[in-house]
Amino acid sequence: MKKINKDIPQRLIPPQICVSKSRRGGDIQKFYVKTFGCQMNIADSDSMGKLLLGRGYLPAEKPENADIIIINTCTVRQHAEDRALSYLGETRKLKKKNPKLKIFIAGCVASRLKEDLKKRFSYLDGFIPANDTVKLLQLLETSKSSNTGKCENLSEFVTITLGCSNFCSYCIVPFVRGPEKSRSLDDILSDIKMLTDMGKQEITLLGQNVNSYKFHKMDFADLLLKVEEIPEIKKIKFMTSHPKDMSNKIIDAIDDCGKVVRQIHLPVQSGSDRILKLMNRKYTVKKYMSIIEKMQKKIKDVSFTTDIIVGFPTETEKDFNDTLKLVKKVKFASAFTFKYSPRENTKAYAMEDDVPLEVKKKRLAKLNSIFYDR
Ligand code: SAH
Ligand code: SF4
Ligand code: F3S
Repeated sequence: MKKINKDIPQRLIPPQICVSKSRRGGDIQKFYVKTFGCQMNIADSDSMGKLLLGRGYLPAEKPENADIIIINTCTVRQHAEDRALSYLGETRKLKKKNPKLKIFIAGCVASRLKEDLKKRFSYLDGFIPANDTVKLLQLLETSKSSNTGKCENLSEFVTITLGCSNFCSYCIVPFVRGPEKSRSLDDILSDIKMLTDMGKQEITLLGQNVNSYKFHKMDFADLLLKVEEIPEIKKIKFMTSHPKDMSNKIIDAIDDCGKVVRQIHLPVQSGSDRILKLMNRKYTVKKYMSIIEKMQKKIKDVSFTTDIIVGFPTETEKDFNDTLKLVKKVKFASAFTFKYSPRENTKAYAMEDDVPLEVKKKRLAKLNSIFYDR
């Protein structure tokens, strides 16, 4: 079993995504997008890339060659935010060398700390809040020129819900991404059409909690069945699922949709009911296990991946051992494991961060050893 150290999945807009004939004359402008954070940020980076490609900009292979740098940031844990800001700090040198270089900061740190960043990084040229990637166009002098090239290899991610309204007590996402909002079926299908027209056969439906998708009468199960019907699509993935919303109807739909990949990401966060309650996750270990067992029974060859936080405030050795027990029982295919990091504004922020760093580290190592040992 493999353990993935997620801090932080990264993917850059690949260079050479565009076979292009830019019509900007000799004045070809290049952009570089550096992405930190989750799939939502990756999807936002790709959509900013598309906007730029559509306006005649080309991707730069490295930041040194770019006329525009966009740093798409994550703030889910302090460490993630620190990494993004240290990258931003590094770009100061590039700006010194090339004063015409434009540096934009996007994503969740941009949403959270705008005023503070304006002061700390005075050389920044603009802010693009999470969920508002078109802001980028306002920041650029709009150029009439367009890119006539054929764009390939762009993201197969299709955002179905924006934001999150769950307010897990440790999590900053609802504060930086706003309340959950489901996109219309028409918008989703037109995004998928665009991808299939480009020859894509695999898509990932994205949202902080895809299971609670709801647009008019359509829920997530209905949406899966709709996507299953698209002949050009051969493989469907989705993330993230929230155990509290994993209904029987969704389980049946997964079973009915042969194109859905049989590996489900179902974050458990903790194996202790007391901690789950403090986390405001709205399920118990018993409920979580019943979902796992139901799915194992119903869906042939299903496997699971998960997210786990160690060292949440007041977590005892017993709570932690309960997490170990659960992990051994479910036999996850892989897991993203994290040390609790207090985030401003969240409910848990008011609690004392009372598990010492050394203990968090020990628990994390012990938890990860289960994954390595398998
Ligand atoms: N919406 C998804 C993912 C949210 S962020 C979900 O609900 O699962 C990805 C993961 O980061 C979370 O699942 C959680 O395990 C972790 N995480 C979020 N906030 C954290 C914090 N303050 N400290 C440590 N880990 C955190
Ligand atoms: Fe954060 Fe919870 Fe929403 Fe996931 S479901 S983004 S952990 S508040
Ligand atoms: Fe990070 Fe924002 Fe995603 S805080 S985890 S990039 S929603």
